[in-house]
Amino acid sequence: MARSIDTLTIHAGETRDKAHDSLVTPIVLATAYPFQNTGELHSYFRGEVERSEEYGRYGNPTRAVAEARLAALDGGEAAMVTSSGMSAIVTTLLAMVKPGAHLVITNDSYRKTRVFVREFLARFGIEHTACEPSIAGIAAAIRPTTRLIITESPTNPYLNCIDLAALAALARPQRIKTIVDATLATPYNCRPLDFGIDLVVHSATKYLGGHNDLMAGVVVGGQGLIDAIREHQGMFGALPGAFGSYLLIRGLKTFALRMERHNASGLAIARFLETHPKVERVWYPGLESHPAHAIARQQMRGFGGLISFTVKGSLADGSKVVDACRIPYLAPSLGGPESLIEQPALMSYYDKSSEERAALGIHDNLIRMSVGLEDAGELIADLDQALTSF
Ligand SMILES: Cc1ncc(COP(=O)(O)O)c(C=O)c1O
Repeated sequence: MARSIDTLTIHAGETRDKAHDSLVTPIVLATAYPFQNTGELHSYFRGEVERSEEYGRYGNPTRAVAEARLAALDGGEAAMVTSSGMSAIVTTLLAMVKPGAHLVITNDSYRKTRVFVREFLARFGIEHTACEPSIAGIAAAIRPTTRLIITESPTNPYLNCIDLAALAALARPQRIKTIVDATLATPYNCRPLDFGIDLVVHSATKYLGGHNDLMAGVVVGGQGLIDAIREHQGMFGALPGAFGSYLLIRGLKTFALRMERHNASGLAIARFLETHPKVERVWYPGLESHPAHAIARQQMRGFGGLISFTVKGSLADGSKVVDACRIPYLAPSLGGPESLIEQPALMSYYDKSSEERAALGIHDNLIRMSVGLEDAGELIADLDQALTSF
């Protein structure tokens, strides 16, 4: 029987009879898994016996539960958990490209993903085109040698959404693989694989781990692709530890509940900001005013907790608002219980001049807020008083 996401977040990937009759998945710290005798070893390498693991870089029973659960949540055949979102992206890309190949990346993708493609992959003869984040932009960037399209939905900080069904329809007939970073959506709000996308990646550091205390990443997709990527993980070794895998399993148990709150509070706060006289513009895909609202409504169940807005003032005025907030912390990241607030110009783009930031579309008066799990009314009151500071 197909289970709902609320049940899957708690039970998917676990057997009921766990070691030591434990109710919860045990944390297995072993780095190696002994064989009974050389006969078992022969059988194992001939593929004649089912054994869970052999060596820690190739697998871990706690990690395997986290992987099976995340595969179920995203509707994929298999998942591979990694030490961070970036290691999921890097391991996946390295497994899927070779010299002479061309890949397309949308130009509002996560900054470090773009840097990896532009500055690292290019060194190995892998070409790319960074294009406008739209189906037309992606279509125009495709070449005969294009093997891969990597994009995000929604994006950071402007929450642009890509029409996923249209993307799959564009890529599939040309035998181009598609990867969508759906960190901001999460499988609660959108499952790209359901639209025909080949692979979905997440920074599990955000909503999936969900407690601002875990670095992790995941890639989900068909068994064949995940097996190929896992071969590379066995080489690169970008693994989560057993304790990290346990934290992921533990965090996922409240994932559906948390997302319900993030979605409700995100929308309430976005609506409040949109009517505030000190606010110039709000970007939140759940607002009718967002350019991608129609497509977001079509492919998302809710719109998450990330909101970007510009104040009617300068970078310094934005700083006054951030500094006057009493509940959100001034910090990067998103997707945890604690609300976080920051100015992208001073956080991710501190190294750029105002002109360079403008060219990248990062406004000086932009503020990004990750709405946490606190009382939405209290967050609104806090933002309201902070907005009087300039
Ligand atoms: C959309 C997106 N993808 C990937 C990453 C990288 O994830 P991590 O920090 O877990 O390596 C981030 C981190 O902020 C992100 O926001």
